[in-house]
Amino acid sequence: MLRLDSVRKTFNPGTANEVRALGGVTLEFASGSFTVVIGTNGSGKSTLQAAISGAFELDAGTVSVDGIAITRWPEYRRAHLIGRVFQDPFAGTAPELTVAENLALASKRGQWRTLTPLLRGAKRGVWRDLLSRIGLGLEDRLDDPIGLLSGGQRQSITLLMATLTNPKVLLLDEHTAALDPRSAELVIRLTTSLVAESASKARCTTIMVTHSMQQAATLGDRLIAMHRGRVYLDVSGAEKKKLTETELLGLFSQMRRDDRFDDEACALVMNQYR
Ligand SMILES: Nc1ncnc2c1ncn2[C@@H]1O[C@H](COP(=O)(O)OP(=O)(O)O)[C@@H](O)[C@H]1O
Ligand SMILES: [Mg+2]
Repeated sequence: MLRLDSVRKTFNPGTANEVRALGGVTLEFASGSFTVVIGTNGSGKSTLQAAISGAFELDAGTVSVDGIAITRWPEYRRAHLIGRVFQDPFAGTAPELTVAENLALASKRGQWRTLTPLLRGAKRGVWRDLLSRIGLGLEDRLDDPIGLLSGGQRQSITLLMATLTNPKVLLLDEHTAALDPRSAELVIRLTTSLVAESASKARCTTIMVTHSMQQAATLGDRLIAMHRGRVYLDVSGAEKKKLTETELLGLFSQMRRDDRFDDEACALVMNQYR
């Protein structure tokens, strides 16, 4: 189980650029659950994920995984617990290294690593099998530099890499936003199967941020909407299932239309969608 307790983060405090990115967020994510996070631009979605991965020190609050407090653990120490995929297909992989070399590095994430012994190992067969599942013929491109592949191919491999070490937590941050619709569709299909597999194999907890209301309506077992550094909607189970794309779009444009909502007014709007 992943738990955040009263997590606060303000960037550039005490300056003209002060931003309250997380205003006291408390959330519990069950092991094996799949949560989709939506919200207006700048509402704190990426900061929420960064707080979990340890990209910065929190101003206040705690983060724990399976009852172990990791709040003070630096990012590298959490790396073996957490898999991440970002929006940019060029983040997360080393473009000049081959597909096999990237997979070799990913398989040792969070551990001391040198490349050569890894590549001598008999892993290639395993990787070929994994890559063939994507259905893009990537199993025949193990020795190509990953930088030669398309955005969709790279995001697919990055997803495989993120789940390779059976992390306890998988964080996806708008990982299909930069892709053309066909590639996005493909990456989402792969996401669905890898998330389900990681949940059953390692009880992995997935948190996926998306800009797509269609993805938000159809994926996951829980939906969280963020607004101004706070959680404003948190639905799961049957309640989540009955939310339609149109309702989510309505909720979204309402949030966007009036960014000056005080907390109470915003909560009232959200209630319409329950
Ligand atoms: N490293 C940073 N330095 C300063 N401000 C930041 C930083 N990261 C995020 N912010 C600000 O915090 C707010 C929340 O950002 P973010 O979590 O990236 O939003 P979202 O992912 O929901 O679009 C935004 O106003 C953003 O500009
Ligand atoms: Mg973001």
